[in-house]
Amino acid sequence: MSLLDVRGLTAGYGAVPVVRDVGLSVERGELVALLGANGAGKTTTLLAISGLVGLQAGEITLDGRPVTALTPARRARAGIQHVPEDRSLFPSLTVDETIRLACRTRRAPGWVLDLFPALERLGGRRVAALSGGEQQMLALARALCRDPSLLVVDEMSLGLAPLVVNAFFPVLRRVAAERGCGVLIVEQHVHVALRWVDRVHVMAGGTVAASGTVEEMRPRIDELAGAYLGPSAYPTEGDKP
Ligand SMILES: Nc1ncnc2c1ncn2[C@@H]1O[C@H](COP(=O)(O)OP(=O)(O)O)[C@@H](O)[C@H]1O
Ligand SMILES: [Mg+2]
Repeated sequence: MSLLDVRGLTAGYGAVPVVRDVGLSVERGELVALLGANGAGKTTTLLAISGLVGLQAGEITLDGRPVTALTPARRARAGIQHVPEDRSLFPSLTVDETIRLACRTRRAPGWVLDLFPALERLGGRRVAALSGGEQQMLALARALCRDPSLLVVDEMSLGLAPLVVNAFFPVLRRVAAERGCGVLIVEQHVHVALRWVDRVHVMAGGTVAASGTVEEMRPRIDELAGAYLGPSAYPTEGDKP
C-alpha cells in the first residue's frame, strides 16, 4: 500500500476539468517529482490532493484511507501538508511568530531546527525582510512543524538561485529518510529533480504522460523534454553540478 495513491483524478475550476484521469503514487520515505510544462496541470493536481480544488472524479488515499471526502483542514490533520507556489507567508509576521502560529508551540520542534539551523538566527526577522530562499525555508519549516506524513511542495525553486535550490534537496532527502515522510514536489529544473528524487511523473495536457524511476527516466530525458517539458527543461549553466 502506497502512502499516497491517486487514481482517476479529474478536477478543475469549473464544469470543464483541467486535469483528467491522473494517476500517481508516493511511497513512505520517497521523493517524487511532478514535472511538466506550464499549464500541464501540476498545480491543480497538488491542490486536488490537499483538498483546495474539488474532485469531479477519482480517488485519493493516504495510508490506504480515502481522504476525498475530507476538507483541506482535515486532510492536513490526516498528515498532508501543502507548501503552495506563493508560499503563503504573512509578510508582517516574524519567523518566530510564523512558526508559533503553525505549531502552537513557542519554538519549532528540535528536528526541524536541526534541518534548518538558520531559523533560530532569523527568529526575530519579519518575513518581508527575508530573502526568497529564507522565505522558502520558513514555508518548508512551517509545514514540517506539523509532522506531515506527506509533504506536497509546488515549484519549490521558483525564483531561487540554483545554489539555494541545491541546498533544499538534501534537506528533503533527510526528511524522507529520517521521518519516513513522502515528498511530492513540482520542480521546474528537470535535471535538478533527476539528481535528487526517486521517481518522476510527467504531466502533459492535464494528465500523466509518463512515470518511472529516475534510472528509467534519465535515458529518456531528451525525448521527454522534447515531447512534454518545453525549453526550460534543458539544463542551464546554473543547473550543472
Ligand atoms: N483558478 C483557475 N481558474 C481557471 N483555470 C485555471 C485556474 N488555475 C489554473 N487554471 C488552468 O488550468 C490549467 C492547468 O493549470 P495549472 O494546474 O496551474 O498548471 P501548471 O501548474 O502545470 O502550470 C491551465 O490551463 C490554467 O490556465
Ligand atoms: Mg503550477
